[in-house]
Formats: sequence, C-alpha cells, structure tokens
Amino acid sequence: MKHSLRILLLGNTGQLGWELERTLTPLGEMHAYDYPAIDLGDYKSLRQLIMDCQPDVLVNSAAYTAVDRAEDEPELAKSINTLAPAIMAEEALHNGSAFIHFSTDYVFDGLKGTPYLENDLPNPLSVYGSTKLAGELAVQQVGGAYLTLRTSWVYSLRRDNFVSKVLGWARSQPTLKLVTDQISGPTWARKLAGVTSQLIILGRNDPNAWFSEHCGLYNLAGSGYCSRFEWGQQVIKLDPHKEQQIVRELLPATSADFPTPARRPLFSALNCDHFFHTFNMQLPDWKVALKLAMESA
Ligand SMILES: NC(=O)c1ccc[n+]([C@@H]2O[C@H](COP(=O)([O-])OP(=O)(O)OC[C@H]3O[C@@H](n4cnc5c(N)ncnc54)[C@H](OP(=O)(O)O)[C@@H]3O)[C@@H](O)[C@H]2O)c1
Repeated sequence: MKHSLRILLLGNTGQLGWELERTLTPLGEMHAYDYPAIDLGDYKSLRQLIMDCQPDVLVNSAAYTAVDRAEDEPELAKSINTLAPAIMAEEALHNGSAFIHFSTDYVFDGLKGTPYLENDLPNPLSVYGSTKLAGELAVQQVGGAYLTLRTSWVYSLRRDNFVSKVLGWARSQPTLKLVTDQISGPTWARKLAGVTSQLIILGRNDPNAWFSEHCGLYNLAGSGYCSRFEWGQQVIKLDPHKEQQIVRELLPATSADFPTPARRPLFSALNCDHFFHTFNMQLPDWKVALKLAMESA
C-alpha cells in the first residue's frame, strides 16, 4: 500500500487546475506546473518533467481553451490539446502512472437533442472541439491507466468565464442580451476538482491497478442543464453584490445575434449516468452548485 502519493498536476493556474491543486495537495506530494514553467508545446521538456517526477498520478488540466482564437491558431491548439496529451499518456504508460485528462462537450455538434452519452458519435464544429477530440482519441490509443473526464461549461469565481462576464456586464449595462439556444451543464470547477480527488482517493492503494481497472472515457458535468440565458439569469439573481448592478432588463437572444469565429454546439449537455453507475458519485445540480459558488465569492 502506498503511503504518500506523488501527484504531478499540469495547468495549476487555470480554473480547474487552481481548484485541483488545493484539493489534491493534502493527498500527498504535489508537483504543480503551468505555463511558462512548463510549455506543453515543448514536448521534450514535457517528457523530461514526467520522467523526472515519476508521479503515481498525472493530472492534466492544462489546455488551449480559447475557443474563438483557436480558429486562427489551429496548430497551436493541436499541439496543446492533441499532441501534448498523447505524450502525457505515453509517459504515464512507461512510468506506470495513473493519468487523468479532461475533455469537452464541444466534441459534439449539438444536434442530438438529448444529453450525450460517451459513445455517441462526436462531430466537432470548431478547431477547439476537433483538437480536444483528437486528444481524447490519442490518449485512448496509447491506453494504460487513464481516465478521460468530459465536462462542460466550466466556471470558477477566479478567471475569465461566463459567470464573471455576466457579473461584469450586469455592473456596466442596463440591458443585457443572453442566448437561449445554447444549452449545456454549467460545472463549478471546485466541485469537479472535488470528485476528481475522490477518484484518486478510491485508487490510492494502487493507482495504476485501480485506474487500469476503471480506465476509459466518462462524462462528468454539473447535473441538469440550462441555456446561457437561464444561467445568466441565476448569476444575476444570486450575485452577492447586487447593489453594484445597473442591469434592469435581461432579454433573450439567439446565437445568430452574436456571430463568433468558432461555431458552438447548441445542445451539448452530457449524460453522466455511466460515471454515476461506475463510481457512485455525481456533481450537484447546476443551480445548487452556482448558489454555493456565489456564496463563496
Ligand atoms: N472552460 C470550459 O468551459 C470547459 C468546458 C469543457 C471542458 N473544459 C476542459 O476542462 C479542462 C480545464 O479547463 P479550464 O476551464 O480550467 O481551462 P483554463 O482556465 O483555460 O486553464 C487552462 C490552463 O492551461 C494552461 N496552458 C495553456 N497553454 C499551455 C501551454 N502551452 N503550456 C502549459 N500550460 C498551458 C493555461 O495557462 P495560461 O493561462 O498561461 O494560458 C491555463 O492555466 C480543459 O481540458 C478544458 O478543455 C473546459
């Protein structure tokens, strides 16, 4: 039985990574890196870092997440979202490390109309979605003791994201328009990090064996789903500093009203039953988590 886990976390200043570092540190010996200390596009250094660290568990929360910018930087997005995770999976396999990787609901085209299952056919609409899908497949192809967790609409109260944008708009605009036709499951990074840490705790006696036994792709997102309009409405309602708001009117809009360089799926909620039935865990309802997140601000 292992007494102290050595964990290598990549992307620790991102939304999810920041929460993961705080949640995983008590589990053992934490080694956490982000850009520029490690550049995922520098494959030689990435391999070396993993070889030097010899982690029991490698966790990758780093990614090229600028969905619109990726349309102009497909090679960079591919290097971070596809090639780097493939290298991580290879090094994890050679080293006998368990590997946790994250992917996105944007691998789907959003046309199914009901929440997506893990084995539904992906059809990404954007460079970001395509490079993340290729990353999932690359990790799967290498194999080993890996779990890929597909999640959706990640937010935190720290970095730039939909929640922080809505709070900013509500303080600067009397009228706010939000789209009703983009629907998915908002996922609080802190809750996702919490369940990720529970997985590591479940496998802590022999991470390689436990992760090998459970390896594969799982959907893991906030329970329930909503439109960006409903999500924004709740953010405005739960804002702990309502006195700073000048917004008086929230109007429904459609994606066609806000053309963006990258196309986004319209309905990309994820069905997380497979994760629940396998591990007996699920993320809280999105409204409950949002309330907790706003109270923690
Ligand atoms: N955000 C969402 O709505 C969403 C939805 C579904 C799935 N996901 C997935 O969930 C995971 C976590 O997302 P997140 O929202 O926490 O992302 P995030 O806040 O954008 O964090 C990503 C981290 O990766 C780092 N990074 C980018 N390029 C790098 C490079 N070349 N070398 C090293 N580090 C680099 C970033 O550093 P810099 O800040 O310096 O760039 C950042 O710290 C990702 O796999 C993402 O694809 C996210």
